[in-house]
Amino acid sequence: MGGYIPDELIEEIRVRSDIVEVISDRVLLKKSGANYKGLCPFHSEKTPSFIVSPAKQIFHCFGCNEGGNVYQFVMKIENISFPDSVLLLARKYGINITDQKIKGVNSSQKNTLYDVNAMAAEFFQRQLSDLPQGKTAREYLRKRGITDNIIESFKIGYASTSWDGVHQFLKKKGISTDIQNSAGLIKERENGGGYVDRFRERIIFTISDSEGRVVGFGGRILNDTDSRPKYLNSPETLVYKKGNILYGLNITKDSIRKSKEAFLVEGYFDLITVYQHGIKNIIATSGTALTEDHARILRRYTDTVTLVFDGDEAGRNASDRGGIVLLNGGVKVKVISLPHGNDPDNFIREKSGEGFLNIARESKTFMEYIINKAIAESDLKSLDEKIRCINSVIPFLSIISNSVERSIYLSLLAEKTGVSEKAIMDEMSKKEYRMQNTEYVTKKSSTPHSALRTPHSHNKAERILVQLMLLDNKNIEKIKRHISIDDFKDNDLTEIASVLFTLSNSNDNMTISHIMDMLSGERLKKLVSEMVFEDIEYQEVDKNIGDCIRYIKKNRIDINELVKQLKTAVSEGNHQQFKELQGQILKIKQNSIIHDS
Ligand code: CTP
Ligand code: MN
Repeated sequence: MGGYIPDELIEEIRVRSDIVEVISDRVLLKKSGANYKGLCPFHSEKTPSFIVSPAKQIFHCFGCNEGGNVYQFVMKIENISFPDSVLLLARKYGINITDQKIKGVNSSQKNTLYDVNAMAAEFFQRQLSDLPQGKTAREYLRKRGITDNIIESFKIGYASTSWDGVHQFLKKKGISTDIQNSAGLIKERENGGGYVDRFRERIIFTISDSEGRVVGFGGRILNDTDSRPKYLNSPETLVYKKGNILYGLNITKDSIRKSKEAFLVEGYFDLITVYQHGIKNIIATSGTALTEDHARILRRYTDTVTLVFDGDEAGRNASDRGGIVLLNGGVKVKVISLPHGNDPDNFIREKSGEGFLNIARESKTFMEYIINKAIAESDLKSLDEKIRCINSVIPFLSIISNSVERSIYLSLLAEKTGVSEKAIMDEMSKKEYRMQNTEYVTKKSSTPHSALRTPHSHNKAERILVQLMLLDNKNIEKIKRHISIDDFKDNDLTEIASVLFTLSNSNDNMTISHIMDMLSGERLKKLVSEMVFEDIEYQEVDKNIGDCIRYIKKNRIDINELVKQLKTAVSEGNHQQFKELQGQILKIKQNSIIHDS
């Protein structure tokens, strides 16, 4: 288990961190009253239910019920432990924690892989710049117009013809074969008997995550007559999941955020060349299909993505599929159609950045692109083709959730094909198209919201009291005077109330985010953030407190009485009576109505 981190340090780092700043690195936040709102990074949604409070330094999502202070956010988004989240924030805010106190915390397996990958990246870079053999690679890059600056900032390198260059280099650095293997840098010899480098005689593209940690590599052959596959990528590892890495993002994220738009290309060279021509708001999928995770990551930086896929059949198919994934992930999609046979790399080298921006200005919204394409591919004079054309657009139309938008495209399709909107709508509602549709629509978040939400079965009166105490510390004193911890029956609410009571006795700091750190489980933190953000205004606070306290006390007496009767029923073997009483007790415990008494 992780090392020990003193409470004061946890508090200091939390206080020095700004939750809005930390979350803004990952979520596009918009000011909304005293709070910020955005699309939740933890589940798929199209309208924001994710709220951040700068004053209280906590967040909550009313869609999936995640919530907490800055530590819960970092743990969840980075998928790391609590100690690692403390370290991460300390590093971000320049708080020195090389202290013995927390030695041993930073030894997670992931961190080891980041370190090993970083060493390998440096090794490849040095081979490119220093090795005599690296000359071919340097020349290759020069021929493709890549400058030294770009080579350096993108950490482009070279893997030589050696069978064990990286392997030996890392071995000398004390990195075990096991770790090298789990980083994907070496692989078992085909006929058994030891390991060889995975990347040999290739230009190396260093793949980093959005925070700039090296997670993997992509390698290209230098000579197109080479019979091996043109590109080779690292296998998936603990730190490299193809479905959630976008090549270049670590370098381009600020430009993307500033320009509020991102170009998405397919290849390493596409990205690098376009970037070198001054268009810096760009990322690449590098050969993998877009995933829901990609959409979620992109949404942290922009709400619009322009697809610039290759001008061939494969590129168009990738646009169709990728567009839907992004749309479903709440990203607005535009499409640039490159002339046939072009990819962004050769297009921009021929037409310059200016030419690229010109064609970008003509980009179409995804639906316009789909409709135009369907029409271009059909001879509308033929009735059969007209039907086929409309049928090919319908699946796309029916995934548009905004009805205004859908009707705009419906009328566009109607206008362009000369078929009435009503006829198209009739087709849309037919079952066969809905079936077809499900093939196109990517799997939504596998857990429906209702299942993600914790059931709201907390005792209402107790919940109101705890909520009032959280909303205003002054209420703690008022409540404490009339009721003790033992009066709370709900386990969750009892723990929160007892933290509040305890803190109010001490001179301790009473901020919500501090309270979060005092609570034992994630569930309690979520419950707290939920109660804090709930849009409730208590009009007559004192009356509410009085009512709740009276109600709790009255039911406590009732319960005691009922429990006594229950025991009698058991001893008398009166099963019917037992059942009835049990039902009544349960009902009181989870009661959902507060009676005016
Ligand atoms: N790719 C891959 N494996 C392959 C082919 C392609 O991983 N065997 C990925 C690479 O990331 C590549 C991207 O898919 O950059 C696009 O492939 P392609 O269009 O075939 O290559 P280009 O990017 O045009 O490569 P180049 O310009 O170097 O020929
Ligand atoms: Mn290319």
